Amino acid sequence: MIYPDFPVSRPRRLRRLKILRDAVAETTLLPNDLIYPIFVKEGISAPSPIKSMPGIYHYPIEGISKALEEALERGVRSFLIFGVPQHKDDMGSEAYNRRGIVQKALRELRSSFGSEVVLITDVCMCHYTSHGHCGIVEGEYVDNDKTINYLAEISLTHAEAGADIVAPSSMMDGMVKAIRSKLDANGFYNTIIMSYSSKFSSSFYSPFREAANSSPKFGDRRGYQMDPRNVREAVKESILDVKEGADIVMVKPALSYLDVLRAVKESLLVPVAAYSVSGEYAMIKLAAERGLVDERKVVLEVMHSIKRAGADLVITYYAPKVAEWINEGYNPF
Ligand code: PBG
Repeated sequence: MIYPDFPVSRPRRLRRLKILRDAVAETTLLPNDLIYPIFVKEGISAPSPIKSMPGIYHYPIEGISKALEEALERGVRSFLIFGVPQHKDDMGSEAYNRRGIVQKALRELRSSFGSEVVLITDVCMCHYTSHGHCGIVEGEYVDNDKTINYLAEISLTHAEAGADIVAPSSMMDGMVKAIRSKLDANGFYNTIIMSYSSKFSSSFYSPFREAANSSPKFGDRRGYQMDPRNVREAVKESILDVKEGADIVMVKPALSYLDVLRAVKESLLVPVAAYSVSGEYAMIKLAAERGLVDERKVVLEVMHSIKRAGADLVITYYAPKVAEWINEGYNPF
């Protein structure tokens, strides 16, 4: 295509009027695009603020439904549930306990909200193991093939308790295949798998690890999470997951990995989710508290950037806030 040169071509013409800018905007963001992470904690009786993530709370299982109401009123309907159990052991047994914290929360939420909400669960072991690794440890090695059977069992207990979507996040090879076959063998062929397909070994998770009390007690996660230097490998991981049965793939973190989002989006035909993680949230939150940036403007810029890069869904601790700003008609562009 041949484009005219200046002065015939003047891109600024389309930027002069707000209505026109909105009309030609290439990216939209709606409350429906957002997924809100929720922390359910055993052994507390009232919501308790998470220090590392200002504005985010641990909720007790009793009354967990109330925690969702504010978000629901604003049009956020999808929730990603994390459990923080009291008891941890080597085998992460609370993760697949049918009376475990996430399973209980799912039952309560399902009975309160029926099909008004989409309930997604994080399927991993690090919050449940005493060593803090994302699977079954042999020596200092996370045993892949043992772990995937546990992830499948965890997923089954979540599906039984009412999860619509299970989201395996431990970066084990073959985890999606193990989960899909377990779910299917038990009649849960409609349960969706959203795989954390390219989850990077990132330093942006620190505030979350404090919130979930899930830091590894020895070593780190570099033996299973991805190397931040890689993008082709992320495409490969995503393709493998889709071949194993993933319905939605995810890129995590989001902001430092927009190129990965774009590459995954262009290489696959499934919806792509992006997880804007705890460190991304904390960076903006603290900069805003210090008066260095305008929180609403920066957050909406970041959210649109993530969508522009290729995300269909955005998982963010800002979900209810973003929905509120959108509903108020706030538009900084
Ligand atoms: C569990 C898990 C983690 C996050 C989501 N699921 C932590 C980790 O891998 O250490 C991080 C989320 C965030 O930082 O917001 N494996």
